[in-house]
Amino acid sequence: MERDDILCTCMDITKGEVEDAIKGKKLTTVEQVQEETDAGTGCGSCIEDIEDLLKEINNT
Ligand code: FES
Repeated sequence: MERDDILCTCMDITKGEVEDAIKGKKLTTVEQVQEETDAGTGCGSCIEDIEDLLKEINNT
């Protein structure tokens, strides 16, 4: 997935936007990402992708 790809189609949020929010605000949970970006607050099908991104960025 590229930075410009839509990660959350419900809220029209790109992978890059989520990535920047996680890095910039040091987010560690899906709930925090939802609050900061709105990603994952619709159908919920992208939550797994958010979790993967959190793991990747935070090395957990
Ligand atoms: S695709 Fe993200 S909440 Fe539906």
